[in-house]
Formats: sequence, C-alpha cells, structure tokens
Amino acid sequence: MADAATLMISVGSYLPERIMTNQELTALVDTSDEWIRQRTGIAQRHIVAKGEKTSDLARHAAEQALDSAGLVAGDLDLIIIATSTPDDTFPSTATKVQHQLGAHQAVAFDVQAVCAGFVYALDVADAMLTAGRGKRAMVIGAESFSKILDWSDRSTCVLFGDGAGAVILERSDNATGYGVLASKLHADGAHRDILYVDGGPSSSGKVGHVRMEGNKVFRHAVDKLSSVMDEVLEAADMPVSDVDWLVPHQANIRIIEGMQKKMGLSDDRVVKTVHEHANTSAASIPLALSAAVGDGRVRDGHVLAFEAIGGGLVWGAALVRYGRPSG
Ligand code: ACO
Repeated sequence: MADAATLMISVGSYLPERIMTNQELTALVDTSDEWIRQRTGIAQRHIVAKGEKTSDLARHAAEQALDSAGLVAGDLDLIIIATSTPDDTFPSTATKVQHQLGAHQAVAFDVQAVCAGFVYALDVADAMLTAGRGKRAMVIGAESFSKILDWSDRSTCVLFGDGAGAVILERSDNATGYGVLASKLHADGAHRDILYVDGGPSSSGKVGHVRMEGNKVFRHAVDKLSSVMDEVLEAADMPVSDVDWLVPHQANIRIIEGMQKKMGLSDDRVVKTVHEHANTSAASIPLALSAAVGDGRVRDGHVLAFEAIGGGLVWGAALVRYGRPSG
C-alpha cells in the first residue's frame, strides 16, 4: 500500500469589514503613507469591529472552506487554530469554533507560534492525519492583532492587521505525490527579546502589547527562510523550478521579494497580498492562498511553497501539491 498523503483540498478566508488606510494612521502616530508603503508594501489593514472576536473571524473562514469543499462540519475530525490572539486565555479558540460550527466529534486545540503559526499547525495536522488520527482536519490561522498593538508606537502599529484563513486537509491512501510533500520547523528562543508581547497570565497578568526590534527581525528573516526552504526542497527531492507558487507569510514586501530573489522566481510565481491586509500573523498564508485560489492563479496539481518566521523566534516551510489528483 502507498504511504498516506495529507491532501489540501480547499481554502476559505475572512477579513473584517473595517479598512484602516495608512493615511488614517497619520492621525495617531508620526508616520506617512509613503514611509509605510516604501518600507513594508502595506497600503491598508482590516480591523475587527467592536465585539468581533478572533473566533468570529475563524468561523467565517472555516465556513467558506467547508462550502468550497462541499463538506459539512460533521466531516471534520480535527480543528487546529493557529493564533496568538485567542478570545480568552482558556479555553482554546478552537474549542469555541468547534462548538459554533457543530463539529462535535472533532478534537480541537490552538497552536501558538505567532507568524509561523500556520506552518506549525499544518505540520501538526499532517503528522496526526498520517498517523491515522482521523480522516479530515481543518487548520485555521486567525488573528485580531489590533488588540495587542500599542497604537502610540509607530514602529509596530503600522505593520499589523486582523483576519483569518482556513484550509481543509484530507488523508488519502492512494494519492502519492499530492498533498504535503515536505515540512520542516525550527525554533530558537535565544531571540525572544527582538519580538515579543510585554504581558501574559503568569508574567504581568495583563494582555500586553507587541514589542519589536524590526530591523533585527528583518536580518534573521531572509536567511532563515531561505535555508528552511532549501531543507524542504531537499526533503521532497524537488528542484525549485518545480514550485508553481511561493505563498509566503505576508509580513513585509521586502522580505517576500528577498525570498523571491533567493529562489529565482519571476513575479508571476509569487502570491503577494500584504498591501491589502498588512501582517495578519498566522492568518497571512491562508489569506494569500485563498486570494490566489479564488482568482484562479492556484489550481489543483500546483506545487505551493509556504514559509513563515515569527516571534520566538520560530520559523518553518512546507511544500504542498494542492488539491486532489484528477481521475
Ligand atoms: N513611520 C515613519 N518612520 C518610522 C516608522 C513609521 N511607522 N517606524 C519607524 N520609523 C523610523 C525609525 O524611528 C527610524 O528613524 P531614525 O532613523 O530617525 O532612527 C527609521 O524609521 C528607520 O527605522 P528602522 O527600524 O531601521 O527601519 P527599517 O527599514 O528596518 O524598517 C520595518 C522597519 C518595516 C519594521 C522593518 O524592519 C521590518 O519589516 N522588519 C521585519 C518586521 C517583521 O516582519 N515582523 C513580523 C515578524 S512576524 C511576527 O511574529 C509578528
């Protein structure tokens, strides 16, 4: 019998209605549309409404992913939400969404790996499915980063936004060459102080705000992302020319284009959505994927390269042949 494969069969996404432009930020901090666009590529971000929670964003994205796969919540055995901005300290946001969807038999938990949350959660779900712990999983990246920003700190508040994206994964025993082809994660807690939140239940008892030495994070980004990308390409025994689309974490257009250059990819093989929704942390890869599947760029059979780095530091990459084999 062929090895079990974890197929990625659908995607959904949700962005809150409220759009905040760069221009609006100039009323809060000493910044400009020009500075933000030039240094980051960001033009706008979406911000949750009063009372709108991370679980609400996640649920909308989940429903869209289920609809487009032609599945119902009862078909899910596992729900993992990657988030650093959960509704509550506990229970997990995943259990809330499990209940709201009516996915009563699904195991549900959160994974916290900040901006690398989606690649971390994807790896965990892939490992569980291929180990036989269920047939279908939903991995959701969902964040309300606006809730942990210091809106008087121009070095961070211009960079982030809110949103959610979800993918459905399905175990298959006869689809070799499809689904998750390779995945690799890393962590190095020695770099904690360059990107963290200055609060938490057992430290300050408060939620806290994002603190970042952006230029130091930047210096780690392209090096670590390109080396982990080399690792997954080697693990899948695949030349970079076989990658149809780089679907990177959308933090900063300069990091994305740095990776594009390292991989030698032309513009028509890189999905870029950072200008529309800024850095939505764990939600950014499935948001970008949803845009590219939605407009027909990404199709069944395409090889996708995902990569992300975030606070920890944590980073990782995955190669996925999207969709189901035809016939
Ligand atoms: N508007 C205007 N000026 C600003 C702003 C702003 N919003 N923010 C900083 N500046 C100023 C600084 O004060 C500094 O001024 P100075 O020269 O007078 O001291 C100047 O701009 C340059 O600051 P740098 O931080 O050196 O600017 P840099 O070119 O590095 O760009 C940025 C900053 C955009 C944050 C960049 O470093 C970056 O994108 N880093 C990566 C951040 C990232 O991706 N984080 C997410 C990681 S994932 C996660 O887990 C959340």
